[in-house]
Amino acid sequence: MSPRPLNVGLIGGGGTAFIVHPQARAVHLDGTRHVVAAALSSNPEKAVEAAKKWCHPICGFESYDAMFEMQKKLPVGERLDYVVIVTPNHVHFDPAAKAMKAGVAVFCEKPLTLNLAEATALVKLQRKTGVPFAVAHTYLGHWTSRFARYIVRSGLVGDVRWVDSSYIQGWLATKLEDTGQTQASWRVNPKLAGASGCGGDIGTHALMQLRYVTGLEVTQLSAQLETFVQGRQLDDHFTVYCQLSNGGKALVRASQICIGHKNDLGIEVAGTKGTLRWRQEEPECVTIHLPGQPDRVYWRSVVAPGDGFLPKNVPADLMAEPTIPSGHTEGFHDAFARLHRSFEADVRAWQSGNKVACDGSKYANIADGWTGMAFIEAAVQSSGKKGAWTKMPKPI
Ligand SMILES: NC(=O)c1ccc[n+]([C@@H]2O[C@H](COP(=O)([O-])OP(=O)(O)OC[C@H]3O[C@@H](n4cnc5c(N)ncnc54)[C@H](O)[C@@H]3O)[C@@H](O)[C@H]2O)c1
Repeated sequence: MSPRPLNVGLIGGGGTAFIVHPQARAVHLDGTRHVVAAALSSNPEKAVEAAKKWCHPICGFESYDAMFEMQKKLPVGERLDYVVIVTPNHVHFDPAAKAMKAGVAVFCEKPLTLNLAEATALVKLQRKTGVPFAVAHTYLGHWTSRFARYIVRSGLVGDVRWVDSSYIQGWLATKLEDTGQTQASWRVNPKLAGASGCGGDIGTHALMQLRYVTGLEVTQLSAQLETFVQGRQLDDHFTVYCQLSNGGKALVRASQICIGHKNDLGIEVAGTKGTLRWRQEEPECVTIHLPGQPDRVYWRSVVAPGDGFLPKNVPADLMAEPTIPSGHTEGFHDAFARLHRSFEADVRAWQSGNKVACDGSKYANIADGWTGMAFIEAAVQSSGKKGAWTKMPKPI
């Protein structure tokens, strides 16, 4: 018989919330996980009301504290297997810590926390409890991100010399926060978003894409955090020049004031043998440029190992991952679902007492989340000193 679906709880998501909806759809995509409970707002009445109006029956709680309290009273198979934390950044640390203490696995939105001190405390707690922990760097879930990782990490474009990883948007080109727009309002408030606005929000995605695809770390950086929209407290333009662990260089940049750009996350990796390019707005393909040759465009699910560029032994688990034939387009929800699918495997392994991979190869783990916060902290410091070269904090 098939195993029971995993029980998932949501933290955040009432009212006009955004990311809860793609997250919840992705939870349900395979039928092996379902949302059963939620604490949808910081306001107890609104939390319960929103749960009553959810698109399918769920158990609504007044707060996440009440939701965790209830866990102890439930029989094992009815407890939450994991929670998805989709609250603004200042409400990541507390529910994540409480979930781990309650023995519930955590799928937390990025950036991991409000600051590095909180991130450090969470890492220590995760090591102590051993609870599986994912950080929602959505774009790692595209099959083509995984394929790009394979190509670069197996040396097919040679030694990495230069990486340009960027996430460019235009939605904060005006003072949208003054209109009361929910998502803009908290993102420009340092008490709710953290020390960097644009960098914390989407610069962390650009950094994660670089680290995931190349396997390289940023060792030191020179940053400029700029605010183009007058009266805004946090940066809306984030440019970081980086020294990489192999001696290569990189630009990690993000902007929210470039009108016309929507969710323009992309990475270009220039190696000694060739260049790889990938863009999330066209996530079905990866382009390879080799000297003196026509460009090679690899489409998801029509990749042929042993074609003169790819070796015959492309890993079988990578080749087996696509879920639908090429041309039936995968997108944002599929990427999220691929992360949840991988996380589900780790949660089930952990529950049955087996070793949990959680090694960052299938989704960002808590150490990746910590590195994102360390990067933001170093970038803020550097920018405060007019772009002075600043070392990344040592991993804990
Ligand atoms: N992975 C991605 O691609 C991606 C995309 C967008 C946002 N995010 C991240 O997701 C998080 C949420 O962003 P959003 O744009 O959906 O925000 P949002 O403002 O749309 O939604 C936040 C939700 O949290 C609820 N909330 C706030 N405090 C709460 C509390 N104490 N208890 C329960 N609920 C509470 C709000 O009522 C709201 O429903 C942020 O950390 C953001 O950085 C990630």
